[in-house]
Amino acid sequence: MPSGNRSLLACPVCREDLKPEPDRRQLRCPAGHRFDAARQGYFNLLTGAGTKFQADSADMVQARAEFLAAGHYGPLAACVAELAAAAGDHPVIVDAGAGTGYYLSEAADALKASATVALDISKYALRRAAKALPEGYALVWDVWRRLPLADAAADAVLNVFAPRNPAEFRRVLRTGGVLIVVTPLPGHLREIRSLGGLLEIGSEKEERVANSLGSGFTFDIGRHVEYTMELSRSDVRNAALMGPSAHHLKPERLEASLDAVSFPLKVSAAFGVQRFQASGPDKA
Ligand SMILES: C[S@@+](CC[C@H](N)C(=O)[O-])C[C@H]1O[C@@H](n2cnc3c(N)ncnc32)[C@H](O)[C@@H]1O
Ligand SMILES: [Zn+2]
Repeated sequence: MPSGNRSLLACPVCREDLKPEPDRRQLRCPAGHRFDAARQGYFNLLTGAGTKFQADSADMVQARAEFLAAGHYGPLAACVAELAAAAGDHPVIVDAGAGTGYYLSEAADALKASATVALDISKYALRRAAKALPEGYALVWDVWRRLPLADAAADAVLNVFAPRNPAEFRRVLRTGGVLIVVTPLPGHLREIRSLGGLLEIGSEKEERVANSLGSGFTFDIGRHVEYTMELSRSDVRNAALMGPSAHHLKPERLEASLDAVSFPLKVSAAFGVQRFQASGPDKA
């Protein structure tokens, strides 16, 4: 948990400090706003706020969790943790669009984080994040809104295949803190894409990421993490079901496509990992 008197969470209603009760079953602020923990340990701070986003479904989250648990993105997780080390000793790490908390928990273990906050709009994802990081906070939240974090609360913000809110990332990072952004490169999973209709995956130019962050961030280091995975039939099924294609992919169609493939299938992984430093004065 955060060291010293540094504030971490901010009440989404009044922006005062949001603190856990000793048993961590509730978060509350001095003005009396309260948020109960769900049975699975996460907190839904969006209660009553309404949201128009389509959160990842339980099935999508299950597919992603299985795929990640098989270790196929381990080299990426190691690179994220290595670049996040520039945040300093025992950092406070926030993951915006944390999903199941895979990258956050790998980085928190490697860097002996003093506190972690997983933000995601999917409660199914956060159930798993809360389990993976029992000492941290898993908060259902929409990253397009003002984040429920104090100014300069974080030493590192992770953003892995998830929406970015640069002004808020800058506000919650201390000056000199780091933002790590991961985007898929054009060749990522191309062998699965070529199976036809199985996978929709956007790629984003790395310069575009840098340009979109604005003046509060300075580009520091960029890495490409590229390797070949050997995927089983269930791995490829999970890869198809964990992304946006899952919304319209018919199970019979998926199985028919998989029938035509011999496994294990060699599949390219290709990620861009960029580190930016929060520059200029802390933003209020
Ligand atoms: C492709 S997944 C990546 C998850 C995780 N970073 C990973 O790589 O395993 C994108 C995540 O962003 C979350 N997400 C999408 N829109 C969001 C929003 N507006 N606010 C917070 N999270 C959002 C989804 O629920 C999903 O967990
Ligand atoms: Zn409040």
